[in-house]
Formats: sequence, C-alpha cells, structure tokens
Amino acid sequence: MQHNQTAKAAATAVATDGINSAEDVARKAKTESLLSPRFYTTDFKAMDAIDVSPLRAEWDTMLAEYEGDNNHDHFQRTPEFATEVAEVFSQVSPELRQEFLDFLISSVTSEFSGCILYNEIQKNVTNPDIKALMRYMARDESRHAGFINQSLRDFGLGLDLGDLKRTKAYTYFKPKYIFYATYLSEKIGYARYITIFRQLERHPDKRFHPIFRWFERWCNDEFRHGESFALIMRTQPHLLRGGNVYWIRFFLLAVYATMYVRDHTRPMLKAAMGLEPTSYDYEVFRITTEISKQVFPVSLDTDNPVFRAGLARLFMIQTQMDAAKKRGGIVGKVKQGLWAAAGAATFVRLYLMPVHRHDLPVNVRMAPAW
Ligand SMILES: [Fe+2]
Ligand SMILES: [Fe+2]
Repeated sequence: MQHNQTAKAAATAVATDGINSAEDVARKAKTESLLSPRFYTTDFKAMDAIDVSPLRAEWDTMLAEYEGDNNHDHFQRTPEFATEVAEVFSQVSPELRQEFLDFLISSVTSEFSGCILYNEIQKNVTNPDIKALMRYMARDESRHAGFINQSLRDFGLGLDLGDLKRTKAYTYFKPKYIFYATYLSEKIGYARYITIFRQLERHPDKRFHPIFRWFERWCNDEFRHGESFALIMRTQPHLLRGGNVYWIRFFLLAVYATMYVRDHTRPMLKAAMGLEPTSYDYEVFRITTEISKQVFPVSLDTDNPVFRAGLARLFMIQTQMDAAKKRGGIVGKVKQGLWAAAGAATFVRLYLMPVHRHDLPVNVRMAPAW
C-alpha cells in the first residue's frame, strides 16, 4: 500500500514535469542528475596501450562477428511502423505517453553516450585492435540512437544529437571505471530489452508501441558490446582481483540501484506491458548477475530481503527528495540535504552487505541465451 502510494506520487511528479516540446526533450537529455545518463571521456593513451594478445583467438572471433554485421538491415522502419503508432499508441493514456517519452529520451541519451565515447576512443588511438572494436561499437550505437530518435520525431520531439554532443557535460572516468561501468550497462541493457521482448512475445496485446518488436536483435548488439569489455578486462586480471573488487562491488550496486529507482518512477510503463517494476527489476538483476560471473568474481545478494528493503528505501528517499525540490525555499533545501544524507547512508549499508564469490570460468565468451 505504502509502496503503491509512493509509486503514484512519483508518477504524478513525472506527469506534471511534462514533455511537450522539442525544448523539453533537449532539456531533459542535458539534465545532470544521479539518475540520468551521462556522457564520458577517458584516458586515450591508456586505452591505446591495451594488449589483447592473451585472448587473441577469442578476440578475433568477436571482431569477425562485428565485421559480419548481422544487424546491418535491422534498424530500418517498416511501412507498418507508422500505422501501428497511429492505431495503437494513439490509444494510450496521457500519463503513459509521458512515461514512454521519458523512457525514449533516457534511452536515446544513453545510446548516444556510448556512440560518442566509442567514437572518441576510436579517433584517439592507433592500436588496431581497440580502434577496430570501437569503430564497430560506435556504428551500432549510432544506429540505436538514430532509431529511437525517429520515434521521438514521430511526435515532433526529435533530439538534436549534434547540439547534445556539443553542450552536454562530460564526466571523466579512468579506463578501469569505464570498463566496469560500460560492461555492466551493456549487459544490463541486454537483460532489460530481452525481458521486455519475451514478455511482449507472450502478450502481444500489451505491445503498445512497435519499437519493442526491434528489441530482440537489438539487444544482441548490446550483449556483444558487453562481451568486448569482458575480454578487455580478462586480459588485465589485476582489474578483477584485490582492491579492485571493491570497485566492482561499487559499480554493481550503483548500476542496480539507479535502475531500480528510475524504473519505479515510471510504474505505468511496466504496468502497460503487464509487468510490475519490482519483479521486472529482480528478473533483470538475476540475468545480469548470471552473465557477469564471466568476469566479476563477486555478485550482489539481490535475493536477500535486507537488500530488497534497502533498494525500496532508496526509491522512497528519491520520491521525498523530489517532493522537497518541488517545495523549494530554505525548508525544501534543508529537507533535500537530509534526504540526500539518508540516501547515502542507505547506499553504504547496501554496499557493506556480504556478497557471493565465485571463480572465473576458463572460457570468457557466453551466448545470449535468455
Ligand atoms: Fe545500444
Ligand atoms: Fe551497446
């Protein structure tokens, strides 16, 4: 009950903070917050120095898959696409429409974030292995971003990606943080898309927009991008042991917690698909955890009731933060500060929870079998 109310309050917050013009879309895409996708830059010299020769055979197999480009014809709209938008999407409620637009904006921003990062690395290195990989991944992400942007354009809400590239803030991450964070976001991206795709495959009547039909082949790209970072990390075993394990735990928790809070602020999007945000998120965590054992020696105990209560608390804190922000004034500011401290304390408690440990498999590569 409590949970339902907070979900409703969050939904109202999204709805009133409406997306009604291309300016709203651009502003949302540029927003810098704990929950919004960021743009990254890194140390190109260190990227240039990566030596993949310890895993040469697996690396070359992977590059051949990119070269084969089995999705080269996938990101084209069919003539039925527009008809389906007109017939099906036009029926959805204004609140669901807002949540879906919010979903499209955060998705196009994170696809484009990958595109920019991979492209910048590609331009700034001479190492042929890394250059080739980054060029292929930038190719894929540019298709993904362009495809989502077309759906925004259907509503006259297309995002000016060139302007976003020039004006959005960039965060510097050391290469190892890029590896942990990007590996996880690629793999969790796969798990999110495949879970939605399978659900709508079982319940086609709940497919309220045609874009979801594209998710299966789309998420195989993301799966492969994750494989690339898995190989890069496995060529540098020190990144996966000792003190670095604390960084892995940090990134696992940060990525899971961000997704949990963000999904719960968009409850209608999941409800329209016949999914419930909490069970959807834990299914995505289960898949991501299973995959990440290819490279991370630890995984989070996401089935532990204490862990689940901690994530629920983070979401409650986020709704209180939003309410305090809306309230404004000195009281609003003080409340925001107090809730931020409460959020940090909850995050630390989650971070200190015991984790599962496992040995890394001999063969790194996995198949997208979900
Ligand atoms: Fe992508
Ligand atoms: Fe990707």
